[in-house]
Amino acid sequence: MEIKINFENTMVDKKEILKYKEQVEKIHKDLHNRKDLDDDFVGWLELPTNYDKKEFKKIESAAKRINKDSDILLVIGIGGSYLGARAVIEALSSSFYTMQTLKQRKHTLVLFAGNNLSPNYINELIDVIGDKDFSINVISKSGTTTEPAIAFRIFREILENKYGIDEARSRIYVTTDKSRGALKKLSEEEGYETFVIPDNIGGRFSVFTAVGLLPIATAGIDIKKLIGGAKLAQDNYNDSKLKYNECYQYAVLRNILYKQGKQIEVFANYEPKMHYMTEWLKQLFGESEGKELKGIFPVGIDLTTDLHSLGQYMQQGLRNIFETVIRIEEPNSNIVINTDDDDLDGLNYLAGKDLDYVNKKAMEGTIEAHVSGDVPNILVKMEKLNEENLGGLIYFFELATAMSGNLLGVNPFNQPGVEEYKKNMFRLLGKPGYNKNKK
Ligand code: PA5
Repeated sequence: MEIKINFENTMVDKKEILKYKEQVEKIHKDLHNRKDLDDDFVGWLELPTNYDKKEFKKIESAAKRINKDSDILLVIGIGGSYLGARAVIEALSSSFYTMQTLKQRKHTLVLFAGNNLSPNYINELIDVIGDKDFSINVISKSGTTTEPAIAFRIFREILENKYGIDEARSRIYVTTDKSRGALKKLSEEEGYETFVIPDNIGGRFSVFTAVGLLPIATAGIDIKKLIGGAKLAQDNYNDSKLKYNECYQYAVLRNILYKQGKQIEVFANYEPKMHYMTEWLKQLFGESEGKELKGIFPVGIDLTTDLHSLGQYMQQGLRNIFETVIRIEEPNSNIVINTDDDDLDGLNYLAGKDLDYVNKKAMEGTIEAHVSGDVPNILVKMEKLNEENLGGLIYFFELATAMSGNLLGVNPFNQPGVEEYKKNMFRLLGKPGYNKNKK
């Protein structure tokens, strides 16, 4: 696992970064001192080393069982309770995995629900499941979130009607708090197999718990390697000294750019498989930092696709953005552009070149253009798209978020603002305890 960062195009002097060294050291120590307290939500910090080995085995055997008896695993969850799993599965599967046959995919198809309230989505999902065998993994730390609760009610009924109460019970896997919440209570009463989200780990930092690992393992991805990569990153970025810690340098750089008026960070990838990784990043940074009227607004673009939609803005719109590109050095497969005798499309100048070469040149040209257009660029490079590197990348960004949020002076581990829409929605829906006529 090796992640390399290139800060050359940020127009920020290394000396500026190093001015933060005392502040960074203090935050580093504080994070590590807090690690045993449940309410401080830093359990993820040493999770790649001290994860629950018994629970890990339980996850592996549940994934095996699901692979034996189900064509589809329906993962019901929202926010941190689904984005990490989806990001890893999409990054490490075929771009068309949902269209592959079981024989091609070799593993149960993982589909997601409970992350929106669209009746179309639910009905179309019911149609896709049809008469296929399926199981459910419902994930909610609080156990009370409306979107997954509604989806679970709908699909549990379908499962019970299809298999009868007893078999349906054996096809329901619940990932939730060890003792609190409606989902925990329901699981105890119904006798569902449960997996625990530790108290000291918040949703968006929970990829290496059962929240991420059960769906990821079911999709046939090696979760030992994934967590192994995270462990390497944990070791690599454990240095409190800013000079030696590129993860903390990245966090500091974000802070410097923010103070220079760069309030939007655009996460860019040149690999469509990374789309959900960007979605996960948006949630990780957005929910962790956007509070107290502060915070960098995270945006995601898929390139080169979005050069033909947002590229114009990136180049010449408001100059309040900086860009963080995730570059994958070596593609998992490649394709060579052949010579064409007629050359009517004028592409013979590329004959003999491979597509990754063209993609990289597009990336280099775009970075050059953006930098000259006053969009500072941070380049995060990873060798290859595989379990180890992805595990490392996830850990890298989790740690950067913790450092960055603290530098900003906010608590990166809470999300008080998310409650606002819920209160209004419950009032409008007439939920008991929420007065319908009172704003
Ligand atoms: O990161 C977070 O804590 C949130 O995004 C939660 O994961 C999300 O709100 C879902 O919450 P829950 O798992 O309680 O259903």
